[in-house]
Amino acid sequence: MRATGRNRDRTGTEPAVIVCVCNNLNCRKVREAVDAGAASCAKVYLHHGVRPQCGRCVDTVREMVQTASGDAGSTVLQGAPA
Ligand code: FES
Repeated sequence: MRATGRNRDRTGTEPAVIVCVCNNLNCRKVREAVDAGAASCAKVYLHHGVRPQCGRCVDTVREMVQTASGDAGSTVLQGAPA
């Protein structure tokens, strides 16, 4: 999907949705941390050298880490021979 208008980011591709307002972490930064090996919510913050402030984003970050882990597993399963 290609972003348009105000939601377009600097690369002109996908919008970078803010996940953590307190620390200015967007979905790409969370994904970057996960791709770099962050396997938990706490490690996502640690990867970027920040700490949760208000804590409102913690559940979302946790879900994103779990989803990313699940995506990796499903990719393997989808690629497996039937
Ligand atoms: S929104 Fe992430 S700590 Fe407040």
